[in-house]
Amino acid sequence: MTLAPEELKSCCTAAYAAPAARWLLGDSFHPGGAELTSRLGASLQVCAEKTIVDVASGPGTSALQVAHETGCSVIGIDLSPESINAANVRAAEEGLDARVRFVRGDAEALPLDDCSVDGALCECSLCTFPDKAAAASELARVLRPSARLALSDVTAAPGRLPPGLASLEAWVACLAGAQPLEETADLLERAGFLLETVERWDDALGEMIDRVEARLRTARFFVGDVVSRGLELTAAARDALDDGALGYGVVVARRR
Ligand SMILES: C[S@@+](CC[C@H](N)C(=O)[O-])C[C@H]1O[C@@H](n2cnc3c(N)ncnc32)[C@H](O)[C@@H]1O
Repeated sequence: MTLAPEELKSCCTAAYAAPAARWLLGDSFHPGGAELTSRLGASLQVCAEKTIVDVASGPGTSALQVAHETGCSVIGIDLSPESINAANVRAAEEGLDARVRFVRGDAEALPLDDCSVDGALCECSLCTFPDKAAAASELARVLRPSARLALSDVTAAPGRLPPGLASLEAWVACLAGAQPLEETADLLERAGFLLETVERWDDALGEMIDRVEARLRTARFFVGDVVSRGLELTAAARDALDDGALGYGVVVARRR
C-alpha cells in the first residue's frame, strides 16, 4: 500500500463519518465499548472544573459518556467535519453543550495550547495515524504536567499479519496500521510519559469482530455480495487474532 499520509487520513475519516460506520459498529467505534471507556475515563482521575481532550472523537459517544460519568468538560477533536458537526448536535441534544464541544483538528497537530488540558483519551485511533510519533508528542504537549493519558488501540505482531490485512481497507479498519502494544508504550515514554498501566484487551477485539461479521452477514442477505470484501477482512482478522498476531491493548500513562 503506497498512499500518501494525507490520502490515508482522508479515506479513514470519510469511512468513519459514513452512516454505514454507525450501523456496522454501533455507538462506540472501538473494542470494549462503553465498559472500556468507563475504565479509561476513571483512570484519568478528573472531576468537574477539569477539562480533557478526546483525540479522534469520532461519533462523540466516549466524550459524552466521560462528561456524564466524571462531570468534567471535554473537547473532542476529529479530522472529519461531518463527525464534528454530528457530535456537536448530540452534545446539544444531551444538554451537555456547555461542557462538551467538538472541534475539527488533526491528531498530529492538535489545535490546543501547550499544557492546556487535564487529561486525554484516545481510543482505537493511534493505529490510523500515519505519524504516530507526532501524535504522541502532541498528546504530551497539550497535557499539563502529571495529567494522564488513557489510550486503547489495536495491536499487531510485527511481520505476522497476512497480506490480506495490509490493504487500504485494512488500514481504515484499524488493522494494517497497528503496532505491538510494547511499541506504543515505548513511543509514549519517549514522548514524555510515565507508564502506569499496560494491559491486553484481546477478547474485546474478538467480540467486536464477531459483531461486525454478524452484521455483514445480515447485510449480505439483503444487498448481496457487495459486502464480501468486508467478510474476507473480518475472517482474516479473526484468524490473526486466534493466531496471536492481532490484539487490543490499553496504556494509561502520566505526563512527566
Ligand atoms: C476507529 S474510529 C474511533 C473513534 C472514537 N475514538 C471511538 O472510539 O468511538 C477512528 C477515528 O479517528 C479519526 N481520525 C483518523 N485520523 C485522524 C487524525 N489524523 N486526526 C484526528 N482524527 C482522526 C476518524 O475520523 C475516526 O473518527
